[in-house]
Amino acid sequence: MVNIAILGCGTVGSGVFEIINTNQEIVNFKAGKELKIKYVLDLRDFPGSPIQDVLVRDINTIVEDPEVEVVVEAMGGVEPAYTYVKSALLAGKSVCTSNKELVAKHGAELLRIAAEHNRNFLFEASVGGGIPIIRPLNQHLTADKICEITGILNGTTNYILTKMYKEGLDFNTVLKEAQDLGYAEKDPTADIEGFDACRKIAILASLANGKSVDFEDVYTEGITKITDIDFKYADKMGRSIKLLGKCKLEDDGIVVSVSPRLLAPEHPLFHVSGVVNGVLVRGNVVGDLVFIGSGAGKLPTASAIVSDVVDAVRHLNVTTTIQWEEEKLEVLDFSKSKKQFFVRVLGQDKNKVESAFGNVTYVDAGIQNELGFITESMSENSYEEKAAKLDGIITRIRVEA
Ligand code: NDP
Ligand code: HSE
Repeated sequence: MVNIAILGCGTVGSGVFEIINTNQEIVNFKAGKELKIKYVLDLRDFPGSPIQDVLVRDINTIVEDPEVEVVVEAMGGVEPAYTYVKSALLAGKSVCTSNKELVAKHGAELLRIAAEHNRNFLFEASVGGGIPIIRPLNQHLTADKICEITGILNGTTNYILTKMYKEGLDFNTVLKEAQDLGYAEKDPTADIEGFDACRKIAILASLANGKSVDFEDVYTEGITKITDIDFKYADKMGRSIKLLGKCKLEDDGIVVSVSPRLLAPEHPLFHVSGVVNGVLVRGNVVGDLVFIGSGAGKLPTASAIVSDVVDAVRHLNVTTTIQWEEEKLEVLDFSKSKKQFFVRVLGQDKNKVESAFGNVTYVDAGIQNELGFITESMSENSYEEKAAKLDGIITRIRVEA
């Protein structure tokens, strides 16, 4: 028998509790041992639930119990999660977490500590919810140079964008729905301003390159400026608007960013809707691979954590190598990367548009007193210089090639 402790029994932690109990037979079979949840640490009470029987308040009860071999962390936030996880690893326990904030900030260090103690630090659920993406990147795509990772990495924002577009609902109503469904972060600013996707693409970029990409170096823009009128233009162009995390290998290094993009129907992520996430991985020999599935929510996320628990139990005294060193990987200046931009500007003066931007392609979505147009490909810097010459720009959205 292997004893497990769960830190944090909210949306995700309660899903782990549920799966280990309801899918007991299959999970025990896959693990090769019987799994028992010995403790749940939480601040709340769970009257009438079996969770109450194993509830503890003090992390030391777990850390100091030599019978606990695997700890699941699903509390969220950096502290006290970091302190708790580190002390569990130092005490010789494996840890499985869904906490991308923790992984993006301390992943490489926690991996080193786990390895020093012949234990595992696993974080499949930290990116893409239920989609297996960490393990494929780490264990399967080992023959390739990863040229690009492009992902819809946040379920809440994809849910919001989909509902705004398909049902004409307003931003705040859909955000509230996403919160009620358990998709959003405790502070949903992390979702809608792109910080959550930023941490996730930093994790994927670190794994793809074996060194630490600092999430604070990632250009990040959320979806709060996207309106129903932008969707009318997108519709006219036959494109969809998605919040994309991107990590792209260019001649001099990698460019990492998060921003809303206009996707053409041929793009593999064009149809990825609702809470579903999608990740396109481009390897130099394997070509394109696409991973699609539930990006948030109780059971899909808990499924990914339990898969890590099974892995940890299968490798109780052996460290599964995850190539991610603490050394920092410098990323290239996003302002130099090139792309086309879709721009909306007040008024109808095409001469002014063309004197600022040169050749453009206009998009007529039947909106009064404004022009919508697509620029030629240019750097972010060049776009800013040209935009400064044109009064009345309402918005701009990057066009995904
Ligand atoms: P919840 O807020 O639903 O659950 C967190 C739980 O941990 C709550 O019960 C909370 O109690 C408890 N908790 C917080 N701090 C402590 C503490 N110091 N000691 C003991 N218990 C504590 O969050 P989620 O389950 O949604 O998310 C958990 C983690 O998983 C986060 O890192 C999140 O980003 C990540 N994640 C979430 C997904 C989702 O779909 N929800 C998907 C993928 C990852 P209280 O409520 O009293 O604060
Ligand atoms: N808030 C996150 C999302 C949870 O919506 O994608 C999954 O990481």
